[in-house]
Amino acid sequence: MSNHNKNTYPKFPKDFYWGASTSAHQVEGGNENNWSVWERENARELAVTASSKWSELTRRRFPEMFTESNYISGQAAEHYDRYEMDFDLAKEGGHNAHRFSIDWARIEPQEGVFDVDAIEHYRDVVRSLRARGLEPFVTLWHWTHPVWLEDRGGVLADDFSQKFAHYAHTMIDALQEGGGSDVKYVMTLNEPMSVIKNSYMTGVWPGKRHGLFATLRAYKNLSAAHKKAYDVIKSKHSDVQVGFTEILASIVPRNEKSFLDRKIARVIRYFSNEKFIKMTGGKYDFLGVQYYFHISIGVGGIEKNDYELTDLEWSVHAEGLYNVIREYGYYGVPLYVTENGLADRDDRLRSRFLYEHIGQVQRALGEGINVRGYFHWSLLDNFEWDKGYWPRFGLVGVDFGTQERTPRKSFGTYRQIIEEHTRGE
Ligand code: FCB
Repeated sequence: MSNHNKNTYPKFPKDFYWGASTSAHQVEGGNENNWSVWERENARELAVTASSKWSELTRRRFPEMFTESNYISGQAAEHYDRYEMDFDLAKEGGHNAHRFSIDWARIEPQEGVFDVDAIEHYRDVVRSLRARGLEPFVTLWHWTHPVWLEDRGGVLADDFSQKFAHYAHTMIDALQEGGGSDVKYVMTLNEPMSVIKNSYMTGVWPGKRHGLFATLRAYKNLSAAHKKAYDVIKSKHSDVQVGFTEILASIVPRNEKSFLDRKIARVIRYFSNEKFIKMTGGKYDFLGVQYYFHISIGVGGIEKNDYELTDLEWSVHAEGLYNVIREYGYYGVPLYVTENGLADRDDRLRSRFLYEHIGQVQRALGEGINVRGYFHWSLLDNFEWDKGYWPRFGLVGVDFGTQERTPRKSFGTYRQIIEEHTRGE
């Protein structure tokens, strides 16, 4: 296996961050927010329509997709209570950093009322990461917010950005109070474009309205929310590094020589990868690159390929990670790969996936692009939004019946990769 690694690219710097990502709603359990409400309203429909969405092989391998309970986040991985043990695993895996998110709905369950116990919980989370030598990377909004806000329109509400900035301010102040609960890296929003597309363009995910006006408003409110939160955090804690993460598809023309193909790829890339960041007016100290999709497109439509498929039938194409890192390298701030991973229950592809994708990060580093960390999605198996529990993204498998954790073989591969790169020479 380690032959994959014998390339001509430079070694990773000593202070490179290696870790994995999680998000509150997907692992904590017991959350009550815009998504949990939506799950209860849609679980039945999702179970019924699953048959039309997947190949026969996938349907046969994952019969859970036809059950309503698959679509209810419920207790998830009970990470809210088991985080200490999960961080032990991260440490055992050789990680030196960890990305997690805070559920806003726990922090502000009623408008203007902040829950001191919930705040203290996340302070503990940070302390327990630090105690294990894991640098905390905190996301403030990984798609979930309080129900009272969703009832008023959620992201589309007139005061979404003010409310978000107020929550961000309160939370970061609490974390910076010291005693080891402080953070250096904060991400305001996770993948705003995923929500703009799936909630407000197409109406598949939670959201009160969708269509063109809702889409434009979502762009506006989310970029305003990021900018306001950036300003309030920086005004008081200027040394905290504030950024956001974005889902970046690698979008290339089918035929590099065709003017039209190049134009089509360019326009799609603009709306998917660039429009939002341009609306943030340069207010970011770093950017989080999240990579899952590669598309080759032109006048003939999307090119079919014979790449390997993950359990979610997404194709694996490592070079796309290099493409998107280069694309965001243009913005001139440090980059972190804050998510990259695959649904692979039987761990058939994950080890090679890790070698190949990390190799592409190295390639970008070799070209002088300022990449400073790689966070695999995910540390644990978790609740995958509208797909529910069957897609297994974890380096560590979770039995959701017993909550037993079992590191997959690729957990060891990742540790080995990290060791190879951090060993002093
Ligand atoms: C990303 C999300 C993350 C997870 C992965 C598979 O788009 O940010 O929460 O669902 O996809």
